[in-house]
Amino acid sequence: MKIISVVGARPNFMKVAPLHKAFKKYNNTITHLVCHTGQHYDEKMSKVFFEDLELPNPDFYLGVGGGSHAEQTAKIMIEFEKILLQEKPDLIIVVGDVNSTVACSLTAAKLGIKVAHVEAGLRSFDRTMPEEINRVLTDVISDYLFVTEDSGLTNLKIEGILEEKVFFVGNCMIDSLCSYIEKSKQSTIMNDLDVQHQNYVLVTLHRPNNVDQAESLREVLIMLNNLSKEKKIIFPVHPRTRNNIKSFGLENILSTNIIVSDPIGYLDFVALMANAQLIVTDSGGIQEESTYLGVQCLTLRDNTERPVTCTMGTNTLIGTNFQKAEEAALRILHGDIKSGTIPPLWDGKTAERIVSILSNI
Ligand code: UD1
Repeated sequence: MKIISVVGARPNFMKVAPLHKAFKKYNNTITHLVCHTGQHYDEKMSKVFFEDLELPNPDFYLGVGGGSHAEQTAKIMIEFEKILLQEKPDLIIVVGDVNSTVACSLTAAKLGIKVAHVEAGLRSFDRTMPEEINRVLTDVISDYLFVTEDSGLTNLKIEGILEEKVFFVGNCMIDSLCSYIEKSKQSTIMNDLDVQHQNYVLVTLHRPNNVDQAESLREVLIMLNNLSKEKKIIFPVHPRTRNNIKSFGLENILSTNIIVSDPIGYLDFVALMANAQLIVTDSGGIQEESTYLGVQCLTLRDNTERPVTCTMGTNTLIGTNFQKAEEAALRILHGDIKSGTIPPLWDGKTAERIVSILSNI
């Protein structure tokens, strides 16, 4: 059997790496290849993750780069179709909810090639998020849907997806975290940035809702500035956010107690998450990683497609009223913390379960 897994953007790499390792056990019967669409292309958004996660160079690189959603999605489809026609795989695997996910699943489905979606069923119920459109469309055309949390099962059932296509397997991204948490302890990033365990706040921001309008970006940076009077802040800045801070002329809001850096590689970032007193983010994956690590997390969004991180984990959905977010952050920094547990099947063995299911089809 020939399988091609697709990666495109930063959050995909840590989901495909454990699958790639799990497929090695089956290399007599399954040929597993990796296709990188090139949606993310900067060294710090892509290459460093291949190194940190010990992923081999991709077998195919489509080099599509940026563009509008339509341009990016269309370019990926055109290039990926050529690979599918040449390679004739039996199945493709897509992960998460980025443009590469929907583009490649649609291309494969139209050629009659089976599609497996890892991280299926998550819903924010907010169709203004491009990722929500990507999730809904990918799930409806997938043949095998691998689900990370209970809410995914419920959502897929309500949407009428046949039960025999759906498998509750746990979280592949957490497999990577389990594999690399020990190695991340060798990272020198804490020394390099001169921070200590539980003595800083880690911040990531890249959602269009928060960073694409000057007013909301200004408000959120003011909030960070206020928090930095209390604690040092580490702020690795996503290219989208960096470009907007510059074009809106907001650079001088950031105080000297905010360490602004380029995007950070996987092992260094795991070290920073594990040791933070608080994480403030609008990311999807970091909500899950902080829950696994038992680190306090405030999510600057009005909804989450990962509700288990709030009901069982240490995540709080605080919304986009940044005054309220600042107050909540201060409460946490002063000791008012939320306890959490690790959701079912987030045990480091999800990729093994997925590969075992796929090897039996
Ligand atoms: C994408 C995903 C989002 C995910 C995020 C993680 C979609 C719809 N969105 O959003 O779900 O959470 O990745 O990072 O797929 N850029 C660079 N270098 C790069 C990549 C991007 O400079 O390597 C620039 C682009 O030119 C663009 C901006 O960053 O100006 C945004 O990149 P894009 O891939 O369009 O979307 P993300 O915001 O990264």
